[in-house]
Amino acid sequence: MKVFVAGATGALGRPLIAELVERGHEVTGMTRTAAKQDLLRKLGAGPVVADALDPGAVMRAVSDAEPDVIVHELTAIGAFNPRRMESGFALTNRLRTEGTDHLLAAGREVGVKRFVAQSFAPLAYLRTGGMIKTEDDPLDSAPPATIRTSNAAIRHLEAVVAGADWTEGITLRYGGFYGPGTSMGLDPLGDMAEAIRKRRMPLAGKGTGVWSFVHVVDAASATAEAIEQGSRGAYNVVDDEPAPVSEWLPFLANALGAKPPLHVPLWLARIAGGEAAAVMMSELRGSSNAKAKRELGWQLRYPSWREGFVHGLR
Ligand SMILES: NC(=O)c1ccc[n+]([C@@H]2O[C@H](COP(=O)([O-])OP(=O)(O)OC[C@H]3O[C@@H](n4cnc5c(N)ncnc54)[C@H](OP(=O)(O)O)[C@@H]3O)[C@@H](O)[C@H]2O)c1
Repeated sequence: MKVFVAGATGALGRPLIAELVERGHEVTGMTRTAAKQDLLRKLGAGPVVADALDPGAVMRAVSDAEPDVIVHELTAIGAFNPRRMESGFALTNRLRTEGTDHLLAAGREVGVKRFVAQSFAPLAYLRTGGMIKTEDDPLDSAPPATIRTSNAAIRHLEAVVAGADWTEGITLRYGGFYGPGTSMGLDPLGDMAEAIRKRRMPLAGKGTGVWSFVHVVDAASATAEAIEQGSRGAYNVVDDEPAPVSEWLPFLANALGAKPPLHVPLWLARIAGGEAAAVMMSELRGSSNAKAKRELGWQLRYPSWREGFVHGLR
């Protein structure tokens, strides 16, 4: 198939292109940065330079490529800072709202048969009830103030993709990425790994918030399966083992060769890191990957972060 990947140079975009090329697809990779075209060529994709927030440029790029499938992996998160959630996610929010709208408009024009877009499981689901969420569970409509705009952007993306009745509109609710090129990798981009190594990410309260992770190579293979055979709707793309912060954070610190994380009371985390940090430590819900495995036949290289944190960070 001809696959158009927006966000092709990103933490997920790079392993995704490798996976798609390996499977024999013809890939066009979009970047807003002319200097990154060579990287895309090396990965095996045909590069196209366009700003995702410029509807005319997106329309031209997609029309020229005439893809069967569009994949939206655009984000602009940068270094993670829970105290600056609103400003830190402002551009990502625009990519999830305006960026999605522009790609959908272009996809409709050329008649793509699938439109696959990046969503985020930890921010998607309601933080009450069961600790492990399936795709049928309700989405969070009352998030804390500091992540309200991010949550609204994700809800916009989910709604317009699901509402695109002229194509198979698919949202992939990824877990927290880890691996090379991510903030949880052992390369210069790994700022969260670095914070854990320096004991700057303490375990707050009882650490009861449940996180779902996914290694970027597994996120890439799930995305390739969705591109090839996904049906309209959402899929959680997470590993087999959602786990509370109290389990995975000390494990990851140990895997990174760091001392165990410091313990602080939740109220202190709320003051120091803001409401978003407190929520992540105490209220977050994990997700189930049963649907993606059942319907897409997805097989993971790292079914658990327990193996991935030890062998998959570089
Ligand atoms: N599920 C998750 O846990 C999750 C999800 C997303 C990100 N993250 C993490 O967040 C960290 C940083 O991510 P990131 O979002 O900064 O970057 P990233 O993952 O490296 O990718 C961002 C991609 O979006 C593209 N992009 C951004 N704005 C664009 C625009 N206006 N027009 C066209 N393309 C545009 C970039 O293109 P060019 O740079 O080529 O122009 C790049 O290909 C990584 O550690 C990543 O793992 C985690």
